[in-house]
Amino acid sequence: MSAIKLRSIGKSYGTTSVLKGIDLDIRSGEFLTLVGPSGCGKSTLLRILAGLEVPSSGDVEIGGKPVTDVRPANRNLAMVFQSYALYPHLTIAQNMMTPLRLRDLSTAERLPFVGPMLGRAKHQKMLQQVQETAKVLRIEALLDRKPGQLSGGQRQRAALGRAMVRKSVAFLMDEPLSNLDAALRIHMRSELAELHRSLQATFVYVTHDQ
Ligand SMILES: Nc1ncnc2c1ncn2[C@@H]1O[C@H](COP(=O)(O)OP(=O)(O)O)[C@@H](O)[C@H]1O
Ligand SMILES: [Mg+2]
Repeated sequence: MSAIKLRSIGKSYGTTSVLKGIDLDIRSGEFLTLVGPSGCGKSTLLRILAGLEVPSSGDVEIGGKPVTDVRPANRNLAMVFQSYALYPHLTIAQNMMTPLRLRDLSTAERLPFVGPMLGRAKHQKMLQQVQETAKVLRIEALLDRKPGQLSGGQRQRAALGRAMVRKSVAFLMDEPLSNLDAALRIHMRSELAELHRSLQATFVYVTHDQ
């Protein structure tokens, strides 16, 4: 079954047409890579998939359902950007927990100090999910550090971890390795392939790097 379907997707900004008649079936569990030069519309396509951008024409289906009116948060996709966009003032554990907090906690349960007491069981479960994910990515020892105390590769893994804690339909990655030096990029590339094998999740990977 296709995890994701794009049907005749078009996108224009004013009179500039960026995407025209894009059809794509992405199978469940597939690792799909989109390669193209800078400015060809890769990010635009990924953002349309994620719901961060509205297509000028065409439809997106996820898991057999049209998602045109479904908000990004409810599309159950995990997006990893080129810049890791970790919150600098939060620890890695707190960063990774953020998507779960936003999804699972009420406003009161998100309050400092009282929140964890109100939603004790939920907090415990979220912490457990973060620890399990950290184990897969081998960053357990880094959970109490802030992003500034990590190397580029470790930060990249933490950003992946934050995308992974929610059980997502697919991972959307927009040039996730561009900010790393060459050696680390090669290393992380094989780690991503390995991660794809072990998670058996759908990956859509966008890059200009042939
Ligand atoms: N919000 C926007 N307004 C106008 N033009 C845009 C906007 N976003 C992207 N574009 C243009 O659309 C084209 C594709 O951009 P993008 O999807 O970011 O390309 P890529 O990710 O492949 O480098 C570029 O020419 C870019 O200038
Ligand atoms: Mg781009």
